[in-house]
Amino acid sequence: MSNLKISYRCPSNIALIKYWGKKAEGIQLPANASISLTLSDLYAETTISAVDGNISGKPSFSLLLDGKPKKSFETKIQHFLERIWDQYSIVREMHLQIETSNNFPHGTGIASSAAGFGALALCISELEEEYTNGKYKHTVENASKIARLGSGSACRSVFGKPAVWGKHEYFDKSSDEYAIEFDYEIAFPLNQLNDAVLIIDAGEKTVSSSEGHGLLSGNPYAEARYKSATANLSKIAEALKKGNIHHFIHIVESEALQLHAMMMLSNPYYILMRPGTLAVIEKIWKFREQTGLPVMFTLDAGANVHVLYPDEYTEQIVNFIENELLLFCQNRTYLRSRTGRGPEKLTN
Ligand code: DP6
Repeated sequence: MSNLKISYRCPSNIALIKYWGKKAEGIQLPANASISLTLSDLYAETTISAVDGNISGKPSFSLLLDGKPKKSFETKIQHFLERIWDQYSIVREMHLQIETSNNFPHGTGIASSAAGFGALALCISELEEEYTNGKYKHTVENASKIARLGSGSACRSVFGKPAVWGKHEYFDKSSDEYAIEFDYEIAFPLNQLNDAVLIIDAGEKTVSSSEGHGLLSGNPYAEARYKSATANLSKIAEALKKGNIHHFIHIVESEALQLHAMMMLSNPYYILMRPGTLAVIEKIWKFREQTGLPVMFTLDAGANVHVLYPDEYTEQIVNFIENELLLFCQNRTYLRSRTGRGPEKLTN
């Protein structure tokens, strides 16, 4: 058996409707459906070389992150490979040499697991097709399914268009097991959005996303949150189809604040926003009121602020960010990205 090798680039994503909470039954199934934008310019590049052979009866792999071993990521990958062990002969029978890197700087507090597991899943799915001579079919759906088992939000990263994950009545083909593309036409000006990620706090989060999800079980407010997210997904789908940016802004900002409200309503309670997060939000609101420009924020499970805006206002919004928001950013750091391109295979 010859050695197999493959490389993929896979972008990160930012959720508009948040996945926050998992179903009690099943593995990595979301408590509510979510939708995200794929961020073309923030990505992971992963290469896997599958070499003969693995007779150890458990996953065998080596991992280099930016050329160096990384213990915490290794443990996650170990769990991930155990989860897909039964279905993927390449995991059972080969030793996998995994090399991965992110194009965004370390220590920015940006979650790299969505991009990382997206790229890993694409590599494994395609290698499996080659290894089994086509008995297994590599599809983006299969890649999404396995990406989910690495990190829930990763299953949305394997698409270029906005991706919906979780069973929802608005989307016939939606599933808890994998994400699907938002397959409606998106109307101007929401068809090309930009995301400027303001690095407010580059430090490690005090509570990880996985722990955060866990704190929703037994939380008396959780059911109301899931209901709200479900309703918001239908509303945002309508806004995207109609290009209704005012509704869109309202839903996106409300979702970000609901996510952080759930952290404050957890037991133990916690806050991941920092003073700079709130200062930036206030500045955005004031700027929007004064100029009427459609700029908005969203947050992931951390202090950093994602500033979203349509293409046509790039110049004004970038000026605003550089003149008024950078002083709240660590080392005046922010990263610009936009939606549009999905993952890319880097090998032939
Ligand atoms: C706040 O996907 O990182 O970013 O499934 O445990 O790996 P695990 O969690 P993760 O959670 C992401 C939560 C979020 C919202 C979102 O991306 O939808």
